[in-house]
Amino acid sequence: MKLDIPYLLAHLTLEEKAGLCSGEDSWLTKAVERLGIPHVMVSDGPHGLRTQKEKVNGSYVGSIPSICFPTGAALASSYDTALLSKVGDALGEEARSEGVQTILGPAVNVKRSPLCGRNFEYLSEDPYLSGKLASSYVKAVQAHQVGVSLKHFAANSQETMRMSVNEHIDERTLREIYLTAFELVVKEAKPWTLMCSYNRINGTYSSENRELLTGILRDEWGHDGIVMSDWGAVNRRVDGIKAGLDLEMPGSNGNNDRKIVQAVKDSSLSMEELDKVVARLLSWIAKGVEKASAPYDKEAHHLVAREAAQRSAILLKNDSLLPLDSFKDVLFVGPFAKHPRYQGGGSSHINSYRVDDAFSFAPGVEWTIGMGEDSASRDEKAMETAVSLAKKAKAVVLFLGLPDKYESEGYDRKVLSLPPCQDELVNHITSVQPHVIVVLHHGSPVSMPWKDKVEAILDMYLGGEAVGSATDDLLLGKANPSGRLAETIPLRLEDTPCFGDFARGRHEAFYGEGVFVGYRWYDDRKMDTLFPFGYGLSYTTFSLSALRLSASVWKKGETVQANVDVTNTGVRDGEEVVELYVRRAEGLSVARPPKELKGFAKVFLKKGETKTVNFILDERSFAYWDDERHCWRAERGSYGILVGISSRNLPLEAELEVEEAPLPFVVTDTMTFGELLHSGKRFPALEKMMGQFMTGHDDQTLGEGAQEMIKEMMMAMPLHSLVSFMPVSYEQFLALLQ
Ligand code: BGC
Repeated sequence: MKLDIPYLLAHLTLEEKAGLCSGEDSWLTKAVERLGIPHVMVSDGPHGLRTQKEKVNGSYVGSIPSICFPTGAALASSYDTALLSKVGDALGEEARSEGVQTILGPAVNVKRSPLCGRNFEYLSEDPYLSGKLASSYVKAVQAHQVGVSLKHFAANSQETMRMSVNEHIDERTLREIYLTAFELVVKEAKPWTLMCSYNRINGTYSSENRELLTGILRDEWGHDGIVMSDWGAVNRRVDGIKAGLDLEMPGSNGNNDRKIVQAVKDSSLSMEELDKVVARLLSWIAKGVEKASAPYDKEAHHLVAREAAQRSAILLKNDSLLPLDSFKDVLFVGPFAKHPRYQGGGSSHINSYRVDDAFSFAPGVEWTIGMGEDSASRDEKAMETAVSLAKKAKAVVLFLGLPDKYESEGYDRKVLSLPPCQDELVNHITSVQPHVIVVLHHGSPVSMPWKDKVEAILDMYLGGEAVGSATDDLLLGKANPSGRLAETIPLRLEDTPCFGDFARGRHEAFYGEGVFVGYRWYDDRKMDTLFPFGYGLSYTTFSLSALRLSASVWKKGETVQANVDVTNTGVRDGEEVVELYVRRAEGLSVARPPKELKGFAKVFLKKGETKTVNFILDERSFAYWDDERHCWRAERGSYGILVGISSRNLPLEAELEVEEAPLPFVVTDTMTFGELLHSGKRFPALEKMMGQFMTGHDDQTLGEGAQEMIKEMMMAMPLHSLVSFMPVSYEQFLALLQ
């Protein structure tokens, strides 16, 4: 659509300009008909359209039937950028045909705790994985001339007090963990819009955080689209305009528009500042198309949802019971056999086009026992029937998971466990039947105290409306599981990185675990997990070989390629996910996670086939955020390139030297002797003094470890302390510094 922006800026009244800065209602922006500026419609997001069109007494009712694709947590487990593209393509087409100009998603908040009620919408505990997958989704949606709103910018890690909680996060952690996924998507896929989060970061609401919305997002990363508020996230509107928040949603009944007008009138906001925002809004409006396109083929999109569910499912355990030859004499039991749980509660909730349950798609399954999902609906009679039928069955498939009210937008989970009656069901069934398969429906990790008692576990996460048929395809081997965990499943809640802080304080959150989130934490502590990050099985087997690097040294501005061969060594066709991690070098300036994911690739291989997978390593593969210098820094050292099939199964390894241009080096009187020695430079006069200091202080009154103590003390000692411990005048010391 064409809009003449300079003309419009010259002809819009101040009130009209202020009006454009907020929504007309929940889903529409305001039109200015006299100047040909249309309304724009936005819709949630992220894994389907929750488009509301009908109004009764001025309020929206219901939402249109749409395809419910697997949720973010499920899709991320595919580790498949092509699949995310396919889903994005379908969503873009749907949005075009429904007249939706911008989809409110994807949501790329990094999972700080498995308890976050909205984890089912988010992708991963790893920012690189989240960013790469989301970029594919965004590019595919936007290819339809439909925008996305990448959300929730930033650090919306909990639902408890989400609209006001103050997150205390150091800059390095923010950059490395909570901003990286956004950065990747902004740079790679150019989303039309971002949605700011509700929470505060270090005291400032995201909706008025200038550093975040302008400094980092626009000036550093080059975002040229708009930023909209999360629904009701605006605190001080005029501060928001100055900070770079363009659109307030859903609006404030004109209250904040009036504040904008007033601010321009009393000169606390300049017309230039307002025009900048209005110009951005107009170019966003102009990006959309005028007319909705033809209806899309819902059946075809339902099949995309089915394929996506198949390719996202994770086979967590298989003592060779799967795949089944047929469903003959197989018993389906559990709360979700007939009514799968396939999506979560809140703004992402879809009025699904059609839901496939596992029972209806399983020819030969004669029995399915509905079962209470928690203590409120516990059904003793059904439990008894299930146990007596289980004795006679060839195998039993148990459909377990978290009930709807256990995880949703708006509140956090309290425990990792499934409702106790479900764990009890597994115990009863496994006591009479050796061949038990558990199928899981949940949006974030659950504990599995029965893991060793069952023969197979197939994790469908919240797999969208076609999850039932997809499950049957996988159980029968019509599809081969290829998902890998995009988050760690911990053994205990107490093991999780932010256990001591998460949702405990009502208004303040302290990110004391720093960059040690997810596998970065468990690896550093060498902790066992129930299932590690990146883990998942297949019905076939693969082997990896011949890791080779294109260079043995990485230098700034260059890339290094890593190639590896992967072979399908089993008897079925299947897909393998090859994962590449970079292991930290020794003796770095800051504490770093033992290893970090820096590449992944999903490869389809016919049985017996071999393919070569190629990864590109660049500066960010090695860099950490240097708070002092305020930049990314790939510090020199010898880094490990680890390749394998899960974060805890990395059989191939190579070393890569990172060469770093010398940093500007100025000797100051507050620098420590340790820093001098580690600088790689020589300072003979000072070294001589250090030697004298060491020998001159062999003081046995300090105890056995005197020498060691003095050495350590010296390393941590600022140079100016020399005057306290050595017969040196301050003038002599200054001369020495020179
Ligand atoms: C959610 C957003 C959502 C918006 C509109 C908010 O409460 O946090 O993710 O897009 O509502 O439904």
